[in-house]
Amino acid sequence: MLAFLGSLLALSITIPLLVFMAAPYIRKYIAGGVCKSTVKLNGKVAVITGANTGIGKETAKDLARRGARVILACRDMVKGEAAACEIRTMTGNQQVIAKKLDLADTKSIQEFAENFLKEEKELHILINNAGVIMCSYSKTVDGFEMQFGVNHLGHFLLTFLLLERLKQSSPARIVNVSSLAHRIGKISFHDLQSEKSYNWGQAYCQSKLANIHFTMELARRLQGTGVTVNAVHPGSVLTELPRQTSTIYTIWRNIPFFLKTPEEGAQTSVYCAVAEELESVSGKYFSDCKPAYVSAQGRDEKTSKKLWKISCELLCIEWD
Ligand SMILES: NC(=O)c1ccc[n+]([C@@H]2O[C@H](COP(=O)([O-])OP(=O)(O)OC[C@H]3O[C@@H](n4cnc5c(N)ncnc54)[C@H](OP(=O)(O)O)[C@@H]3O)[C@@H](O)[C@H]2O)c1
Repeated sequence: MLAFLGSLLALSITIPLLVFMAAPYIRKYIAGGVCKSTVKLNGKVAVITGANTGIGKETAKDLARRGARVILACRDMVKGEAAACEIRTMTGNQQVIAKKLDLADTKSIQEFAENFLKEEKELHILINNAGVIMCSYSKTVDGFEMQFGVNHLGHFLLTFLLLERLKQSSPARIVNVSSLAHRIGKISFHDLQSEKSYNWGQAYCQSKLANIHFTMELARRLQGTGVTVNAVHPGSVLTELPRQTSTIYTIWRNIPFFLKTPEEGAQTSVYCAVAEELESVSGKYFSDCKPAYVSAQGRDEKTSKKLWKISCELLCIEWD
């Protein structure tokens, strides 16, 4: 009995001690890959959507530290101005500005692009980062299902409108922030707007798979232009992303140890935007600053081309 109690005591000391000693290593593993490039971006112009918070804000901070002129494209200008001011103060880079962009409204996207093209002569980095998840069924101003509309169609249109400026400024890079969730996504051509049946999980995964198809098809079309496009999975990151569902948001905020910080989550976006070794790499998907596996669906060229055609029709644009 005494021996048993002794072993119990030893275990109750050893296990917490081992966990305590292993904690920094577990944390480092969760933090994932780090962008090691020290490239400076003086004279370069970057646009980052959804940059007032989360991964987008940290990405903006990093590019600002490297000297880029950074445009935070935000739907809420109060939050946008606050983030721009914070980044200017932290980095000492006064070339960080907020501009209005609501990806749930094609008119706002057009206005943003028109103003940008008037005011900025160059564009070297476009990071399509903004995203929504867990929305109760709702539609964008133009009648698209919210997640498909914002995460895919909004960025599709924005890229279309800014592409000539990227080509003129080449070498230039586009980074599409997708997700591991693309792997369980399916493009439901019979019900792209989830009008027949809606499940936010399926709609989100569809939109993130659409980001992958967009990346693959755009890369094929951009060959030889000096403009590259890659997609990323940022990891599981403690941001405001699940804010639409209070239960999941509460769980999310209570497990910070197991999630990346927004700064850690920004590493792969930054890596794809600046790393020297990716100069001519295009049409790839990265996670933790290294190439990652794209689902068979995501690699299906026929689906990419079909989605491209339908996206153009929905947005009433001609993009050949
Ligand atoms: N966090 C994760 O674990 C995770 C995992 C995989 C992929 N991702 C992807 O990472 C990207 C960034 O997400 P995050 O985690 O940083 O989330 P977040 O903290 O919620 O940031 C999302 C950003 O998108 C903006 N946004 C939402 N709707 C918009 C619209 N209609 N027009 C313009 N901007 C809009 C938000 O603006 P407001 O502040 O005004 O709402 C916010 O700035 C998303 O594409 C997400 O799908 C995140």
